[in-house]
Amino acid sequence: NSQPRTLLRGRTLDFNRKPLDENDTEAYNYQADGAILIANGKIEATGPYDQLSARAPDATVIDHRPHLLMPGFIDMHVHFPQVQVIASWGAQLLDWLNTYTFPEETRFAEEAHAAAMATHFCDLLTGHGTTTAVAFGSVHSGSVEALFTEAAKRNMCMISGKVMMDRNAPDGLRDTPQAGYDDSKALIEKWHGVGRAQYAITPRFAITSTPEQLDMAGALVAEHPDCFVQTHLSENHDEIAFTAELYPDAPDYLGVYERYGLLGQKTLLGHAIHLTPREIEVLADTRSKPIFCPTSNLFLGSGLFDDAGLSARGIQNGIATDVGAGTSYSMLQTLNDGYKILQLQNQKLHPLAAFDWITRGNADVLGLSDKIGSLTEGSDADIVVLNARSTHAMDLRMQRAETLSEELFILQILGDDRAVEQTYVAGEAAKTGRCSAGLEDV
Ligand code: GUN
Ligand code: ZN
Repeated sequence: NSQPRTLLRGRTLDFNRKPLDENDTEAYNYQADGAILIANGKIEATGPYDQLSARAPDATVIDHRPHLLMPGFIDMHVHFPQVQVIASWGAQLLDWLNTYTFPEETRFAEEAHAAAMATHFCDLLTGHGTTTAVAFGSVHSGSVEALFTEAAKRNMCMISGKVMMDRNAPDGLRDTPQAGYDDSKALIEKWHGVGRAQYAITPRFAITSTPEQLDMAGALVAEHPDCFVQTHLSENHDEIAFTAELYPDAPDYLGVYERYGLLGQKTLLGHAIHLTPREIEVLADTRSKPIFCPTSNLFLGSGLFDDAGLSARGIQNGIATDVGAGTSYSMLQTLNDGYKILQLQNQKLHPLAAFDWITRGNADVLGLSDKIGSLTEGSDADIVVLNARSTHAMDLRMQRAETLSEELFILQILGDDRAVEQTYVAGEAAKTGRCSAGLEDV
């Protein structure tokens, strides 16, 4: 093999399944002097450094000791056109959308703006150790075009879709049932399955779509069963009440999406906080996937996601930032707030389970665990290098840490982008330091 190979050296960690507790050592793979051999953007092998360096004496060694090498993080729900909405004060969901979010999203009609923001967005993701995102675009096709184009330049796994919204939104931020269908279809044909891009059919939520539009979204799902579907569900009480007014015949909020054929195992439902027993049953029956957005749910005062309750019903869920209602691009900070939300319900998020969740777990929710979320041979070489001593506070605390679980918990509670020493996307170093787009106002 004449292709140049790379050998990353460090402490390697990935997961086989969700760890039950600290002693569940079969759930994960940890090598104290480990290495990852990379060729052609893929992982050729993961194992002890000695073995791999003997096997690949020609490989360029990058020594990341004493840091941890883990699969790159996966953000299951994030809004690309909200990079300049994050940290907007004082509102709960519907006011927040109307006051801050919708006006900002109208700016993505302009292609130069969308392109500049796509560069910032991808830099921010990789800067925080995230190598795959499931991202909402704006209503404008051009926004998704810009994001897929930027991700393709970086060989980055990106799942995205143009938001479909045809009512209860300002001028410049609405499509029509037909235009929403046509634009989505054109994007699917151009991007779905091209390189590492995948399409998510994206009706924003029931409030911003007419029944006619949800019907068209259902037609897209039927015509493209291999695409994802993403939307929002039961985030906020006023949202639920308004949805009931707009869809008086539906049994409940989820019943709206059910009625239009939008549910299934590739359907990702942001928030899913305030659910009825019937909705929980439908989630389980259709194998639809709730997505927990901890920093967002606290920031907007939305409520507490019931991870244990849903899991007990066999409902598999993902975890995500939901920037711009979310307050950090960091999946570590997402786990920090996730831990606290579960604490308020007397549920525990063990650090081993937490790091499984943001890697293998989220990949499994996407049905992509053969490609991302682990360090297994044949996976794409999306890797994050983590330093649990990256700040004064972390370093001091680490002096008293004795186990891997303690180290992971310090990362989970105190970590952010400073803990990310490097991020590899398809085998290429992707953490550039400052935003490569520059920081002049756009
Ligand atoms: N519901 C509909 N749109 C949005 C959005 O952009 N952010 C959040 N958090 N909830 C939504
Ligand atoms: Zn959202």
